[in-house]
Amino acid sequence: MKPDPTKSVYTSADLQSDLKSQLPGEYPYTRGIQPTMYRGRLWTMRQYAGMGDAEESNKRYHYLLSQGTSGLSVAFDLPTQTGYDSDSPMALGEVGRVGVAISSLEDMERLFAGIRLDQVSTSMTINATASTLLALYVAAAKRSGAEVRKLSGTVQNDILKEYIARGTYIYPVAPAMRLTTDLIAWAGQHVPEWNTISISGYHMREAGCTAAQELAFTLANGRAYVDAALAAGLAIDSFAPRLSFFFNAHSNLFEEVAKFRAARRIWARWMRERYGAQNPRSWMLRFHTQTAGSTLTAQQPENNIVRTTLEALSAVLGGTQSLHTNGYDEALALPTEQAARIALRTQQIIAHESGVPQVVDPLGGSYYVEALTDGLEAEAETLFTQIEAMGGPIRAVESGWVQRQIQAAAYEWQRKVDAGETTVVGVNKFINEEQSAPKIERLDPELERHQIDRVRALRVKRDQHPWQDALSQLQHAARFEENLMPYIVQAVEALATVGEIADTLRSVFGEYRESVSI
Ligand code: 3HC
Repeated sequence: MKPDPTKSVYTSADLQSDLKSQLPGEYPYTRGIQPTMYRGRLWTMRQYAGMGDAEESNKRYHYLLSQGTSGLSVAFDLPTQTGYDSDSPMALGEVGRVGVAISSLEDMERLFAGIRLDQVSTSMTINATASTLLALYVAAAKRSGAEVRKLSGTVQNDILKEYIARGTYIYPVAPAMRLTTDLIAWAGQHVPEWNTISISGYHMREAGCTAAQELAFTLANGRAYVDAALAAGLAIDSFAPRLSFFFNAHSNLFEEVAKFRAARRIWARWMRERYGAQNPRSWMLRFHTQTAGSTLTAQQPENNIVRTTLEALSAVLGGTQSLHTNGYDEALALPTEQAARIALRTQQIIAHESGVPQVVDPLGGSYYVEALTDGLEAEAETLFTQIEAMGGPIRAVESGWVQRQIQAAAYEWQRKVDAGETTVVGVNKFINEEQSAPKIERLDPELERHQIDRVRALRVKRDQHPWQDALSQLQHAARFEENLMPYIVQAVEALATVGEIADTLRSVFGEYRESVSI
């Protein structure tokens, strides 16, 4: 039952769950996965960054580390995400534009030059080519002398939300899910501290869904991955502890806190009761949060510093494990160094000046937040029932049902903004005429040319046989039910490129075509 939004006062009469028995660090973890939470360890301040070529991004990573960021987070350009090398005609104009261009092992080594990969955790926002980028990361780490089994980090590796909301897919659903579970299985054996998937609600929320839909569609996708890994023969406790999640921190502070609390409770219950997981680490929903890019306005961009602060606060009050705060200029372009610094300082001020991290789940016990938590859980359960009735999460995606729910919610929100029923400060209220135009990040167009030349030079200088042999072995393995990761690792170590590997798999799997019913 969703709490009545018109109520101005909540009392104990609004509480459904028995609060006394709930403690942080105890099943079902509503109040947090660790007994001490941020008193034991602050959340990871993990700023998403990447632009231009590997050198440009490497510079930004060193800058962020020097400013106190505690984890790396790589943004890749669209060609890398969709399996095209920088010199592909399909890449023209996109090389290095929304993230860093990575085509080869040499690019990956440049990306992390001067950074000890066994001393930092790295997130990579990569999905359709996640296997290849993880293989490149492992190969680069091996070349640097780092112990592979000690590497920690995350690949997003969440292809279902790409069909739903983000669009950087390549292959049809079935082979894409096979690549996902191959990575989960292989990493569990070879890189045991690596988080093998970041099941994401962020992008669906950015596409316009509600908090309850974000909660439900994300966890439903999570169930699809668990079912796929079980069907691939993996035991639940062998992979569940290394599943992770990624949520949006949107405008309505209390609703967002309640969403995170409800997510932990639902997931813990599913893992223990539905899947019979025995290891408490399988029950814990660990997540990263990014403040909502969709709430940033191009008008009066300084206001975005306040929006991002409130959104970051909701993530901390909600018990996030890792956090990215957006730059105030990101409605206009990739963040400048100054905007990235202010974004990081926002986290540091919440961490070290607000007092909030001193208490675990400080909003726990609030009549309103507990009622919201119960209400969001109930709304999500209703959506799970609908998804089950249509054949499960993958069917719900392939039929376009999830996409249509999101589109309807997005339309309703925009209608309310256009009608003035929903206020966006500086946009439809408190407008001022003079438009401040902050200095925005501009990429040197020469970077694309330079990157293209580098990829072409690699093709000429590399030994011609090992990469050709590796790709033909990969193609053969793709045709049969073998785990593809070892073949992809072999290929990248032979200097095969991201595009060559993707094309080899395209030749076997074909490409995804969106169904017309959406
Ligand atoms: N007491 C004891 N131990 C504690 C503790 C406490 N209070 N707090 C933390 N720890 C431990 C943890 O248990 C962990 O140990 P372990 O590795 O043995 O389990 C260690 O300290 C590190 O803590 P976390 O694992 O919680 O923190 P990480 O930052 O390493 O991991 C994560 C967080 C969510 C699990 C991980 O998956 C992660 O970092 N995800 C990030 C994903 C990301 O950055 N995505 C960006 C996407 S950008 C995008 O898609 C948007 C774009 O498209 C626009």
